[in-house]
Amino acid sequence: MVYALIDKYYHDSPELHALLLRHSEQVRDRALRIIDAHPEMKIDREFVAQAAMLHDIGIIYCDAPKIFCHGDHKYIEHGWLGAELLRKEGLPLHARVAERHTGSGITAEQVLRDELPIPVQDYCPETIEEKLICYADKFYSKSHLDEELSWQKVRTSIWRYGHDAVLRFDAMHEMFESTTITDNNNNTIHGK
Ligand SMILES: [Fe+2]
Repeated sequence: MVYALIDKYYHDSPELHALLLRHSEQVRDRALRIIDAHPEMKIDREFVAQAAMLHDIGIIYCDAPKIFCHGDHKYIEHGWLGAELLRKEGLPLHARVAERHTGSGITAEQVLRDELPIPVQDYCPETIEEKLICYADKFYSKSHLDEELSWQKVRTSIWRYGHDAVLRFDAMHEMFESTTITDNNNNTIHGK
């Protein structure tokens, strides 16, 4: 389902299509590793696998030529634009993930304070699945696809969204990766 949906909107943009798939699979795979490490959390694995693939589907409407996006909108709009698309496609829960994954979430106060070009509302992840995808996304940059960021680097980058944003990131880190987990090759991804 998710690959067909991505193809529907990205088939005319092969470079962006490939980039979106690569990034989304990185996010999905990290999220699934965390789920597998925490069966007690009872996270909806199938939903996370789908929603992680679709969280950035709005980037095609944005202007970010370095990552092959040639739309008219500001990049920060990709969350809510992706959500609009997903609601139109009959996927309201996936839409919530798309609009709540930027930074560690964005509050309505922050939208007003920073005059962000998005509708004024709260965009903080609420469900555990929304939090997990928002969290896993922070470790992968679409402009440096081969890089996996350390949590210290992610935390530093979150400071630009303000102190509250760092606290939200710390809470998600504590929830999901406060103990050591490993990747498919048994390398340590993170240990606290
Ligand atoms: Fe992303």
